[in-house]
Amino acid sequence: IVALYIYFFLSGQTLFKVVIKSLSPKELVRIHVPKPLDRNDGTFLVRYRMYETVSEGLKIEVLYGDEHVAQSPYILKGPVYHEYCECPEEDPQAWQKTLSCPTEEPQIAKDFASFPSINLQQMLNEVPKRFGDERGAVVHYTILNNHIYRRSLGKYTDFKMFSDEILLSLARKVLLPDIEFYINLGDWPLEHRKVNETPGPLPIVSWCGSLDSRDIILPTYDISHSTLEAMRGVTNDLLSIQGNTGPSWINKTEKAFFRGRDSREERLQLVQMSKENPELLDAGITGYFFFQEKEKELGKAKLIGFFDFFKYKYQVNVDGTVAAYRYPYLMLGDSLVLKQDSTYYEHFYMALKPWKHYVPIKRNLSDLLEKIKWAKENDEEAKKIAKEGQLRARDLLQPHRLYCYYYRVFREYAERQSSKPEIRDGMELVAQPDDDTSVCQCHRERPSREEL
Ligand SMILES: *[C@@H]1O[C@H](CO)[C@@H](O)[C@H](O)[C@H]1NC(C)=O
Ligand SMILES: *[C@@H]1O[C@H](CO)[C@@H](O)[C@H](O)[C@H]1NC(C)=O
Repeated sequence: IVALYIYFFLSGQTLFKVVIKSLSPKELVRIHVPKPLDRNDGTFLVRYRMYETVSEGLKIEVLYGDEHVAQSPYILKGPVYHEYCECPEEDPQAWQKTLSCPTEEPQIAKDFASFPSINLQQMLNEVPKRFGDERGAVVHYTILNNHIYRRSLGKYTDFKMFSDEILLSLARKVLLPDIEFYINLGDWPLEHRKVNETPGPLPIVSWCGSLDSRDIILPTYDISHSTLEAMRGVTNDLLSIQGNTGPSWINKTEKAFFRGRDSREERLQLVQMSKENPELLDAGITGYFFFQEKEKELGKAKLIGFFDFFKYKYQVNVDGTVAAYRYPYLMLGDSLVLKQDSTYYEHFYMALKPWKHYVPIKRNLSDLLEKIKWAKENDEEAKKIAKEGQLRARDLLQPHRLYCYYYRVFREYAERQSSKPEIRDGMELVAQPDDDTSVCQCHRERPSREEL
């Protein structure tokens, strides 16, 4: 039996067909192939998720009528492993090459510039004291022989489910370096010591960075999780958003749009500006927590699906408690992003330039209305910036690039450790799933190093 998945899609008159099947007619494989994503610019994304491993390989055909298009058929030589198959590539270089990982990651280089060497004993002495109090959100991890161990240092560490899942996923794919590190699961970056201070800063790992802290950053839990769970639990991920960008530019409502929680005062200011300038801005708060007393005055807006944001031509990106984690999704849409100046950043912001990929607005929003007017009066220019931003984001935010980024941070970290990582008191093993979903035959050699 051959598993065969066929999809037709229409783009004007064009009829395409995509076939994904096992290379060997004898091999059955369960693959989920959702509807192709139409990016509305003549390009489509076809995604698939494997629930089983194929040993011979996969054949992907893209047909126009009966004819192959581009380099079709695409052959992925087997074995091709599914997500839950524990089968790490022993040679990280080869793995990175397969993923076409970039040779430079300027943000990682910058983050590690403050840390030529990492003293694990010093961190063990200091981190729990400085950041491990009751209200802390720090988890201490050790990865040894590709096994993951951890202990929580504070009470607010439920988000370790996100760090666990990405670490486990990486460990299934590639042999990770032995490392011992501390990940901050809270919103705010933690390390505010300066490089020339004594004692110096510690390399705490966080999801969000800021200009006045030294934390080493990783892709946020939000984009990491939605990438891992794409086509399963989540509907809003870095690829699905690309097929749901609303009407084409000419048919979008010519207003700036914002919906979100009340996590920063400027967001309330947006609503006030929106009331006074409804022809320029449609802004609403969907949930009150920090400024509950304001709800009566400003009102509460109905929740609206993220894909519907793109009915509007301009999107306002205002920080939440830290960087707004919607920013990557906004950049992948085809609206113009108006981004509030901020000291906070995520792992990819460095590659995006004001006036090239987005339009900057002042921290206090004093020039927001003026910038919206500018965009309305300079439609061609606005459209061009929106497109350039989208193209750059599509490149930077390819799912595999997240894996590359994580791996590289761990490698840079490992190279700087001045002693061997250890499994510390109170750490427990974070186990790989061992249910039906993980069944597979790994053809790669198992690590020959001694297990602990
Ligand atoms: C804009 O909307 C109109 C009316 O729905 C539609 O006929 C037209 O094709 C749309 N234009 C583009 C470029 O999508
Ligand atoms: C907003 O910030 C700018 C500096 O970026 C400052 O010049 C201006 O006075 C501020 N406006 C208001 C209304 O606070």
